[in-house]
Amino acid sequence: MTKRRSQHWFGGNGKDAFIHRSWMKNGGLPDDAFDGRPVIGICNTFSEFTPCNAHFRGLVEHIKAGVLEAGGLPLEFPVFSCGESNLRPTAMLFRNLASMDVEESIRGNPMDGVVLMAGCDKTTPSLVMGAASCDLPSIVISGGPMLNGRFKGKQIGSGTDVWKFSEDVRAGVMSEQEFANAESAMSRSPGHCMTMGTASTMASMVEALGIALPGNAAYPAVDAHRARLARMTGRRIVEMVHEDLRLSAILKREAFANAIRINGAIGGSTNAVVHLLAIAGRIGCELSLDDWDRFGRDIPTILDLMPSGRFLMEDFCYAGGLPAVMKEIAGLIELDAMTVTGRTVGENIAQAENFDPEVIRPTEKALTAQGGIAVLRGNLAPSGAIIKPSAASPGLMRHRGRAVVFEDIDHYKAIIDDPALDIDETCIMVLKNCGPKGYPGMAEVGNMALPQKLLQKGVRDMVRISDARMSGTAFGTVVLHVAPEAAVGGPLALVRNGDFIELDVDARKLHLDVSDAELDLRRQSWQAPVPAMDGGYQHLYTERVLQADRGADLDFLVGCRGAGIPRESH
Ligand code: FES
Repeated sequence: MTKRRSQHWFGGNGKDAFIHRSWMKNGGLPDDAFDGRPVIGICNTFSEFTPCNAHFRGLVEHIKAGVLEAGGLPLEFPVFSCGESNLRPTAMLFRNLASMDVEESIRGNPMDGVVLMAGCDKTTPSLVMGAASCDLPSIVISGGPMLNGRFKGKQIGSGTDVWKFSEDVRAGVMSEQEFANAESAMSRSPGHCMTMGTASTMASMVEALGIALPGNAAYPAVDAHRARLARMTGRRIVEMVHEDLRLSAILKREAFANAIRINGAIGGSTNAVVHLLAIAGRIGCELSLDDWDRFGRDIPTILDLMPSGRFLMEDFCYAGGLPAVMKEIAGLIELDAMTVTGRTVGENIAQAENFDPEVIRPTEKALTAQGGIAVLRGNLAPSGAIIKPSAASPGLMRHRGRAVVFEDIDHYKAIIDDPALDIDETCIMVLKNCGPKGYPGMAEVGNMALPQKLLQKGVRDMVRISDARMSGTAFGTVVLHVAPEAAVGGPLALVRNGDFIELDVDARKLHLDVSDAELDLRRQSWQAPVPAMDGGYQHLYTERVLQADRGADLDFLVGCRGAGIPRESH
């Protein structure tokens, strides 16, 4: 039998083993803690600056109990916590940094398997990316969503209703006092956003990929089921170490195909696109932007959750959670894909039931027949752009309009409410320099708010195009992730006020109606924007970040480097 990885630290009688064991004993561990039992690292993204993960101190105790019950040794370690609501300029800037922290923490320490505690948007991909580059047995447990928001007798959803309320205030139909009152009503318990935003999407994605236990996505953070799931996760990772069940045995192309299809079925966040591409890159699985269209195109959105629909994550839990969604579309997914349970997807969902067809609709009553992410191409996005049809206005899915251009987010903020701005509801709003290098970090500003004068007229959606991302809780006819981005001289940089742009989602087309000769002329006079800050991690990020169609990972982080056994230093 091969020597367990942790035994390269803790086994034997030499000086190094003395050092490794002796210091670990300072907390009271007995001799037999080092007898070769699986050492389980628990990667904790707890931070009080990440409110979505602030309950992890309690949750981790359930994981530890499970590890101990199964005969393992649990050892918790902290990593960079990418909290969405506070981190500036954008949490996405630090996703790759956090993934490096995770990767090196796993590889450098004596662990045989790892539990990844994720919650807020970027904590899930950063943990999975880092773990995928090491490829030890690994399992994800999500922190779970908050309870449903409630305001004036109605359910309100994280993010989604913030965008709605703030537009209502700007349109003059909601008072500032009501807006302030809604603040406390929205976030009623520990947990992450309870709409189908990026956190709920990524919690669903890890379940769909097969790297979290069934039920992971929907149990609220405060539900005892969540604590029980944490305990079962702790038990299961010990078994996975015994079985040597690694991420690379699960994160195969069929797993990503399932995740893309299930993202369509749940009306998941557009952010899943960059995250899944980055995770696939780390584990060495071939996956392209076009696979999003290939696998997701004919998948109906059957989950009626905000922002695409009406309900919230608590309702999703009571309706049966993700296993029930997977059962509804069982004919469209790969049932033979392997999962962390040691069983296939088909075996995992065999007993699943849909308890509420209002929330999880039968496919014949889908919210949208084609719910996947649409990948657009054309002379405005040679490397692709995306749109989420289920969050868009059907009447705008085919639209030709005059461009109103904002050179960057500051320019947008400076002029958007200028009464003299030459814009009407038929125009197309174009925002530049908000891509991976341009912002930097590819901020969630693609769903830019409409001009106040149009809101007051009752306009609630217009076509918007940018190289930015948008919050998974947002909605609208919003074309995102245009690649190459403006800051590297992509065609988006060349758009001018008054140009005409054609969007045709059915034909997957995004066309700038300007001749090639004119675009060449404009290109000659284009100058790259000066980076806002040139030092520290931001410098490294801006130098090495890949475009959105490659998952916006850092080029030197792509690939699986394995866990290895690092050299001793004593
Ligand atoms: Fe953390 Fe939404 S801000 S999940």
